[in-house]
This record gives sequence, C-alpha cells and structure tokens, in this order.
Amino acid sequence: MRQQRETPIRNHNTQKNMHQEYTVIEGDFVNAGKASSSVKKTLKQMNVEPSKIKRVVVALYEAEVNAIAHAYGGKVLVDIDSDKIKMVVADKGPGIPDIALAMQEGYSTARPEVRDMGFGAGMGLPNMQKNVDKLNVISEVGVGTTVEMEVNF
Ligand SMILES: Nc1ncnc2c1ncn2[C@@H]1O[C@H](COP(=O)(O)OP(=O)(O)O)[C@@H](O)[C@H]1O
Ligand SMILES: [Mg+2]
Repeated sequence: MRQQRETPIRNHNTQKNMHQEYTVIEGDFVNAGKASSSVKKTLKQMNVEPSKIKRVVVALYEAEVNAIAHAYGGKVLVDIDSDKIKMVVADKGPGIPDIALAMQEGYSTARPEVRDMGFGAGMGLPNMQKNVDKLNVISEVGVGTTVEMEVNF
C-alpha cells in the first residue's frame, strides 16, 4: 500500500526561501497530517513564533484532510520565507459547487464512513479562514479544488 511520506518529496532550500512538496493520497486518513506535522518541524527549527506555527498547522491539516476525505488526493506545495508561509493544497476531485455554502460553519457533505472516523464536522474551511491571513479557494466541478493560504509571521 502506498503511504504518505512525512519527509517532503522535494525540498529546495536557499537562504531566503524553502520550497517543499508533499503528496496526499485519497482515503489515507492514517497519514492525514503528515505534511502539516513536517511543516511544523521546519517552522520550529526556523524559530517561528509558536502561535503562528499553530495557525499554520491547523489550516494545513484541515486542507489535507479535505483532499483525503472529499477528493481523490492531491499535492501540498509549501513556500516558506523569513516573513511568511504560502501553502497550496491542490486536488483532483469532484470540486465544490457552492464555495460560499461550503465555507459556512457546520456545512458538510462528508460520507457516513468519513463521519464514523471523526471527520465531517463542517469546521475545516471556517477554521482555515480563521487561522490564515489569506485564503483563496478555487474549484471547478468535476475537475478539482485548489486551496491557497498564507500566514504572515
Ligand atoms: N477538497 C475538496 N473537494 C471537494 N469538496 C470539498 C473539498 N473541501 C471541502 N469540500 C466541501 O466543503 C464542505 C465543507 O468542508 P469543511 O468545512 O472542511 O467540512 P468537512 O470536511 O468536515 O465536511 C465539505 O463537506 C465538502 O462538501
Ligand atoms: Mg474538512
């Protein structure tokens, strides 16, 4: 069985900017949060303020879970600068027909088996919104969804 890796598949590190990429696999709830916990480690090593790290981890975790729960997996792209982090979670999936509706607290289309695992409270997108400085959700029905997020340090 394929497993999500905790180490980035790509890690370019220059003095100013670090770029990391992770793969997210559909239905792989066991490994949900691998990208966010890896990013957490990196930010700790960079001595980023703990409250900022927490916001990054919460937002990225929710986006990862959505790519696992609602889509057919995808990619996480992370760019870390000294003053901010940019995160992109891009999936191939059914897309979101009504983004404003999906953003509402408590709105969820999670399947019963996903709910049984403790996901599907409908708080993921609202939590991303609360924790990041910039959120952009781009979605095309039948094609996929891309979530772009930024947190300033
Ligand atoms: N990547 C995605 N692909 C397709 N639909 C999504 C995606 N992310 C979110 N959604 C839709 O938006 C709804 C709300 O998402 P969220 O707030 O994270 O709550 P939850 O994941 O608990 O359902 C989901 O139930 C789903 O209908
Ligand atoms: Mg969610």
